[in-house]
Amino acid sequence: MFQLRCTVRNCNLDLKRQATSLVCSSGHHFDRAKEGYWSLIQPQDRKSVKAGDTDTAVLARHRWLERGHANELIEFLTPWASKAAACSATETPRILDLGCGEGSFGPALFGNNADGYCGIDLSKRAVRMAARGWPEATWVLANADRTLPIHDQSIDCTMSLFGRRPVSEISRIAKPNAMCLIAVPAEDDLIELREKTQKAGHRRSRWKTIVDEFSVAGFQFVKHQLWKQQMKLDREAINDALAMTYRAVRHSQHARLESVTAMQVTLAADVLLFQRSV
Ligand SMILES: C[S@@+](CC[C@H](N)C(=O)[O-])C[C@H]1O[C@@H](n2cnc3c(N)ncnc32)[C@H](O)[C@@H]1O
Ligand SMILES: [Zn+2]
Repeated sequence: MFQLRCTVRNCNLDLKRQATSLVCSSGHHFDRAKEGYWSLIQPQDRKSVKAGDTDTAVLARHRWLERGHANELIEFLTPWASKAAACSATETPRILDLGCGEGSFGPALFGNNADGYCGIDLSKRAVRMAARGWPEATWVLANADRTLPIHDQSIDCTMSLFGRRPVSEISRIAKPNAMCLIAVPAEDDLIELREKTQKAGHRRSRWKTIVDEFSVAGFQFVKHQLWKQQMKLDREAINDALAMTYRAVRHSQHARLESVTAMQVTLAADVLLFQRSV
C-alpha cells in the first residue's frame, strides 16, 4: 500500500501494515476504520480554521458528481493527470490528492494506479465514502493544514481539486521534478446562481495569486487553462450546487431562488500545472 509516516509528534517513522493496523517501529499504532480508511489525525490537529466540509456539503457534492455534472471536467483533466503522473521515473507514481472529498476524481483520473494513490480529507463522511468507492486505494483522515503524514521528497504528483493548497508542505513532500495539479473555481463559476442569491455575484480570479504562491515555494509554472461548460440545472441540482459551495448558508439568499425550477449556469474552473524545480 501507499507508504505513510507516523503522525505522533516528532516520530515521523515509516508506518508498516500489520493486518488491520498501521504500526511504526516505536510502537505507535493506528487501526483501520471498518469502512477502510486510516485515521492518522492527532487530537491537536482536529481543529482547523476550516474543519473540512459539512456532511451536507459532502453529500451534495456526491449527488452532483453521481449525476455526471463533472464528467466533462474529468474528461478535460484526464490528459493533465496523465502528464502529471508521467514526470515519475517509477511505474507506480505516487499521487497525493489533497481534499479528495467523496472520492470520485481519484479513480476517474488514476484508476489504474491504486497502489500509488492516496486521498486525504478532513471530513470523516467524505473519506468513508471514498474508501467504499475505491477500496484498493489508500484513504486517510488527516488535516491538510497541518504536517502531512508523508515523507520528505516522496511524492510524484500532488493534486488539489477545489481543495486545500498547503504549499510549504506540498513542497516538502515533492520529489525533485514532481508535479502539482490544481483546480480552483474560475471567476464566473456558477455566476448565474451567485447573481441571483447575492444580487451582485462577485467575480474573483485566483489563479495568478496561486502561481505566485507556488513560485515562492519552489514550483515552476507549467500551464494554465480555463475550463468552461454551460449546463441546465434542475431544482435538485440547484439545491446541491448551493449546498456544496456554502452558498446555501443564508436563508434570505436561498429564498430568492425558491421559485426557480430550472436554470442555465456556467461551470468554470482554472486548471494549473506546476513542476518542482530540482
Ligand atoms: C470543495 S471540496 C472538493 C472535494 C474533491 N476534491 C472534489 O473536487 O470533489 C473540498 C474538500 O476539502 C476538504 N477539506 C477542507 N479543509 C480541509 C483540511 N484542512 N484538510 C483536509 N481536507 C480538507 C473538505 O472536507 C472537502 O472534502
Ligand atoms: Zn511513531
